[in-house]
Amino acid sequence: MSDSAQGLTPQRLRHAFGTFATGIAVIGARAADGSLVGTTVNSFSSVSLAPPLVMFCPARALGAFDVYNTARHFSASVLRRDGRAVSERFARTGTGKWQGVKHRIGETGVPLLEGALATFECEVEVRHDAGDHLLVLGRVLRLEVPEEADPLVFFRSYYRELAPVGGADYATFLEWGL
Ligand SMILES: Cc1cc2nc3c(=O)[nH]c(=O)nc-3n(C[C@H](O)[C@H](O)[C@H](O)COP(=O)(O)O)c2cc1C
Repeated sequence: MSDSAQGLTPQRLRHAFGTFATGIAVIGARAADGSLVGTTVNSFSSVSLAPPLVMFCPARALGAFDVYNTARHFSASVLRRDGRAVSERFARTGTGKWQGVKHRIGETGVPLLEGALATFECEVEVRHDAGDHLLVLGRVLRLEVPEEADPLVFFRSYYRELAPVGGADYATFLEWGL
């Protein structure tokens, strides 16, 4: 093993992974007994436009892991800048996380957060073992982008907000399909 490979401690990995700024989403799903589960994640990502695919990675240690490992559908609600309390709520261990949180139930029975930047209702396409996590790839069945607002950002274990960088070339990103 090389020196640098030996240095791949969980602490160093967390530190390095934390340099990749992300948004935050709340994943929702319905257990076989009908109860709802929810989890704050920063592993949510868009994957493909055609077909429309997204992914997230639940940890095997999650209380809700069995649901994400078996449920046919899941939702993803992208948090707005003011979503810190919601993020903290859905990051706490326990059940009943959706109680008292404004949400609606989608056509597939999954919970969708009110006031999210965007919501996605998805059908699981494939699950893939991913070390201490599972990679869940889902096909987007329905989506909503209710209002334009700023996102909640996660970077180096802190909640952040966006600051614009000058000179962004929106037209070029459109050419790239971004
Ligand atoms: C900003 C943030 C991002 C997170 N991202 C993930 C993630 O991508 N995957 C994951 O399994 N847990 C992630 N977590 C941790 C889970 O939210 C947390 O362990 C879980 O909600 C605990 O609940 P449970 O074990 O009762 O299901 C994240 C937490 C925070 C605060």
